[in-house]
Amino acid sequence: MKTLQSVILVLCVGISYSHICLISPRQRGTMDISMPGSPTCTRHAEPCGGQAIETPKVAYLAGETAFFKWQQNLNHYESGYPGYMDIGVATTENSTEFTTLAVVTDKYVHRQDYQQNFTAIIKIPSIMCEHCVIRMRYNAHKPGETTFLQCADVKISLGSKSDNDLIFSPVHEESSSDRQKLLPLKRALRLRKYHHNLKSGESVADGAMKLYGIAYNPFEPGRSHYISIDTMTGQTEMVNAFKFGIDSPVSGSSQSEMFLLDEVLSIDYGRNTTNFLVHESGSRDDVAKQLYVVGTYNGSLVEYSDLFQFSGGAINALSWYTYGTSAAFRIQPAEKANSWYFEVGMIVDGAYKMGARIPDPEGLYVNFQWFETDVNNYHRTYALMGNENAPDELNSRIYIFDLYDSDFSKFIKYTELDVSKYTFMSIHSYPGSDELYAFSPGLWFDEPHSWYLVAVDPMSGAVTKKCDIAPAGIFQRHYGGSVNQGFSNNDGYLYHVLRVEGSDADIIVKIQPGTCQMSFSEPTNLRHIHSLQMPAM
Ligand SMILES: *[C@@H]1O[C@H](CO)[C@@H](O)[C@H](O)[C@H]1NC(C)=O
Ligand SMILES: *[C@@H]1O[C@H](CO)[C@@H](O)[C@H](O)[C@H]1NC(C)=O
Ligand SMILES: *[C@@H]1O[C@H](CO)[C@@H](O)[C@H](O)[C@H]1NC(C)=O
Ligand SMILES: *[C@@H]1O[C@H](CO)[C@@H](O)[C@H](O)[C@H]1NC(C)=O
Repeated sequence: MKTLQSVILVLCVGISYSHICLISPRQRGTMDISMPGSPTCTRHAEPCGGQAIETPKVAYLAGETAFFKWQQNLNHYESGYPGYMDIGVATTENSTEFTTLAVVTDKYVHRQDYQQNFTAIIKIPSIMCEHCVIRMRYNAHKPGETTFLQCADVKISLGSKSDNDLIFSPVHEESSSDRQKLLPLKRALRLRKYHHNLKSGESVADGAMKLYGIAYNPFEPGRSHYISIDTMTGQTEMVNAFKFGIDSPVSGSSQSEMFLLDEVLSIDYGRNTTNFLVHESGSRDDVAKQLYVVGTYNGSLVEYSDLFQFSGGAINALSWYTYGTSAAFRIQPAEKANSWYFEVGMIVDGAYKMGARIPDPEGLYVNFQWFETDVNNYHRTYALMGNENAPDELNSRIYIFDLYDSDFSKFIKYTELDVSKYTFMSIHSYPGSDELYAFSPGLWFDEPHSWYLVAVDPMSGAVTKKCDIAPAGIFQRHYGGSVNQGFSNNDGYLYHVLRVEGSDADIIVKIQPGTCQMSFSEPTNLRHIHSLQMPAM
């Protein structure tokens, strides 16, 4: 039985879903981009995905500006260690020496089932070749995903210019749908008014709380802003500026600038500081290992250190543990091929200290989704891990660790969650509750879909509806919008950001899990805000 199980796991990883197709210049071999997970976008053999060399069908002028287009056919963003897509050129048909022309960092879209076209305008280098090869790669940096490769055969004839600029313009999913755009927004405003009126009779002092986050514009890759967001008006205000961006979106080489890791943070409620991980230098294949401690309310750098006692495996997530201490989660390769240990540890005084890991390495539930400390029992941490081969069913498990003291910390168990009615990408601990809470748009397949708050029992795996948040036809089925540590505030609300269907408007919802009392902010736009957090008040 044991042997059979491990054979099945290896097979599943082997089958793994697919990721990249080169549209223009057209890739070698067949191409079908009509569906996510197309086998024609799943090619791993070096150097060109195992496709036979073809006669060049496209010619470029050296130094000319050319239009390249590709499709990410599924997304495999790895929290804490984002991957990249790059384009290179080799000067003969059999060469394996590729010169990089463009690099695009992977994007956190909070889901795997995601087809996205990318276009780039690239200056062709000043070379001449009867038969050059353009190679597209997607290195997702994700456990179980080896690099995806496609090549196209082209000719380059001599020109003059040697510049190598890149303009990056992803085609947004939203822009393609221009169906009845205003209707969902109108409904959202009616919903807001309804809940507002319900409350007006009560004496609840509804003071505006502030969320904090990082505003980032990929066209200014070298900086970002620490900002606050008023949870009633939705207004944002700049608190501080950082001289680095998030996940370094674009550059001409595989060396990348300094960048902060999206969604990897913990707030120290004892000190009013927020910990971020920063990649300071080196290649994109080097993991981030600088810890930046900034004031949660002022965004100023308070402390900075290299993580020491650190073996170099990427940290996927942080979560506050106790005063001065964060819990950390990592996925570490095991001796056995295609399997990984899930490990929790602590960051104390800038050093990483391993706590506990799962006893048997895992090969299938390797899709990291969320990491949370139990606020009622500061022994426990929960890691939400998705099944790598269920990008739509979103089968997931909670791995439970006791991190009481690193000398006594241990793995407790994992629980398979019942996702037959509700799916989600984050889980939130809440004062006074043994259950975790999650914001859920129901099932991936539900069309139209409503929004709910659900209770997740980490011990049994039961997932039950707690509150109805919004009926169908108002908010997008978007799996982002989670607020880190959104529990610890006087008013007892949990916070989440919802995207209005067919519109650029976002609405912050807050809800009390006990009473289902909720309210909605004025419409705002937070699409450019990352790493949302709720400080203690
Ligand atoms: C490339 O490799 C093929 C197959 O090995 C061979 O037939 C061809 O001559 C090679 N071309 C060059 C330019 O070396
Ligand atoms: C990507 O572009 C192709 C044409 O090159 C188009 O047929 C397809 O619908 C586009 N896909 C998306 C997701 O925009
Ligand atoms: C943290 O901030 C809260 C709210 O502003 C304040 O009450 C508390 O005294 C602060 N703690 C420290 C250690 O500065
Ligand atoms: C920013 O906030 C932190 C944490 O509360 C504090 O230690 C630091 O002194 C503050 N810095 C400035 C410049 O106000």
